[in-house]
Amino acid sequence: MRFITLLLALALGTMSLSAQENIITPAPVKVQGGICVDGYCAPAEPFDFRQTLKLNISGADEADAERLEAAVSAAGLNFKRVKRHAKSGFLSINIFPECMEQEDGYVILTYPYGVDITAKSAAGAFYALQSVRQMVEAGDWQTGVILDYPRFGYRGVLIDISRHFRTVDFLKRQIDMMARLKMNRLHLHLTDAAGWRMEIESYPRLTSYAAWRTPDTWKEWWQGGRQHVDEGTEGAYGGYYTKEELRDLVAYAADRYITIIPEIEMPGHSDEVLAAYPELKCTNNPQFQGDLCIGKEATFEMMQAILDEVIEIFPSEYIHIGGDECGKDNWKVCEDCQRRMREEGLKDVDELQSYMIERMERYLNERGRQIIGWDEILQGGLAPNATVMSWRGEEGGIAAAEAGHDAIMSPHGYCYIDAPQDAPYSQPESIGGYLPLDKVYSYDPAPATMAPEVSRHIKGVQANLWAEFIVEDDHYEHMLWPRAIAVAEIGWSERENMNFEEFRPRAVKIVDRMIEEGYTPFDLKNEIGNRPESKTDVEHLARGKKVTYISPSFYWAPQYEAAGDATLTDGKRGTWTYADKRWQGFLGRGGVDVVIDMEEVTTIHSIAADFMQICGPGVYMPCLVEIAVSTDGENYTKIADIPHEIVVDELPSFKSFGWEGEVEARYIRYKAHRSNYSGFLFVDEIVVR
Ligand code: ACM
Ligand code: ZN
Repeated sequence: MRFITLLLALALGTMSLSAQENIITPAPVKVQGGICVDGYCAPAEPFDFRQTLKLNISGADEADAERLEAAVSAAGLNFKRVKRHAKSGFLSINIFPECMEQEDGYVILTYPYGVDITAKSAAGAFYALQSVRQMVEAGDWQTGVILDYPRFGYRGVLIDISRHFRTVDFLKRQIDMMARLKMNRLHLHLTDAAGWRMEIESYPRLTSYAAWRTPDTWKEWWQGGRQHVDEGTEGAYGGYYTKEELRDLVAYAADRYITIIPEIEMPGHSDEVLAAYPELKCTNNPQFQGDLCIGKEATFEMMQAILDEVIEIFPSEYIHIGGDECGKDNWKVCEDCQRRMREEGLKDVDELQSYMIERMERYLNERGRQIIGWDEILQGGLAPNATVMSWRGEEGGIAAAEAGHDAIMSPHGYCYIDAPQDAPYSQPESIGGYLPLDKVYSYDPAPATMAPEVSRHIKGVQANLWAEFIVEDDHYEHMLWPRAIAVAEIGWSERENMNFEEFRPRAVKIVDRMIEEGYTPFDLKNEIGNRPESKTDVEHLARGKKVTYISPSFYWAPQYEAAGDATLTDGKRGTWTYADKRWQGFLGRGGVDVVIDMEEVTTIHSIAADFMQICGPGVYMPCLVEIAVSTDGENYTKIADIPHEIVVDELPSFKSFGWEGEVEARYIRYKAHRSNYSGFLFVDEIVVR
């Protein structure tokens, strides 16, 4: 009965949209101010949410009812629990699976005298209460209708606690925030070279040894000997979660309708396992081995025993088995791996990897679980039931979906939030190019152009926050928020309801509230934004003029050709990132050596070009720039010689190399020499005035 009333309300409602339209994040499917039933319309007016509400919950089991009651409290509402729907002053929550088709959807009907929440599932009711919480926080809860459901069933965040261990309390704080944004998957990267983080009783050295290292920072550890040490050794840095702690964490997340997906990396990214159990190394033994030996049966015994303990703690249907970035070289020379390949008829090491992934899949399937793997698990043939997590781009996810597998999208260009989110000079050292909030927000995991038989396999989206450079918890939160808010909205909201201009002020408010609550998100209201030079095209005398590259060996690197030989005079200045197809990257020994033809003898007062330096990926300033001019294209006069001493620094920098004066010339030769630091020179435009 109530559902029919609801349909009428939605169909007949003609009132204006509510102010609530731009309060709830992620943006809901439909918000309408006022309530109309059977032709009678109650106007949109503030609902008195400060009264003590009579809360009744129906259709939920006891555990869910307790969770929902906790969510009502967390929303800041006063209530007393009643058995029946009260006549006024009610907050009624009804779980009613037939109320709509969409999984985890809900409807909130706010009358002047009470509130009815109808939800498809307990999770849906929890999500409704998160919307309620945001209205209470905004002090703006109007009568009206909210109809809402998620676009994707998987809305995730990856937290990397291998590179730097973090406490259970820290994880719970992030879970709290995820839940408020209706996110529902926490992918825990529990294992990697830098440290194993889960107690495993059958292999105790994983935590008594592989969980500890010296020195503390990942960077020093990685560049040094990559040593693990025994727990309790002086200076040992690291940690691990006991099973008790993990059980508690899993329950805490489940109370907020978040499933924790544990990741146990194999066969790559397993240096720490091999440090603790070197007998699982391949028989040729270079210093650093990160890949488990697939030839040895003991590897399978160990991984199966580990997975037994993992599934005992984590009820998640999905277990992530890693599968990314295997070196595979040892397998080519290892007697055991070679024997395995002969016996199993595997034609290359990609198939050897797939052999292992398929065996692990079978093992988990037999125990009622499914695997997720990084997109490299496609390389030697995909395990029959695997879900692919697409990170190297979207191609892996799309290929998996085309083959009828499910995929979760986490392409690094949009979802790797270990990249800097503001002007790189203002941000701590990080990995990758400039990835501001608006770029994350622009990502669509399943655009309308995607074939429906592909898009129906795209199950969702995930933000990944790797922690190589992130030692402190406050730094971790700074990287995570607010970009994970954008990912929450990508995962939940319908595309037609998404608009960055409306999202940003909502995100600013959430960030301000988080700061008040003691979180340390990036303070969005102080965002500097993209490189100012890149925002408008630059007019100058050489714009559109022909550029000749003096020697092919001085030519650009293919992946950084930008706009080809138009780049340096196309009027487009680069952004903060060299991967924007505006910066041209030169890899050859000679550096940059080009001639601009001004087409006629011209009076010139300045010639300048910007370079960038980001030492991590090997991008350096030139050590010398020479500028020469000519009227005939044969006889050049040097007008500038600009030496530069390179300072190796963690922070990205930008610098102009130019000349000012007065000269008459038709041809300009601009030559930037590469230093002894091997790597790229990046230049975006040669500006002539
Ligand atoms: C990954 O970033 N290697 C999954
Ligand atoms: Zn081997």
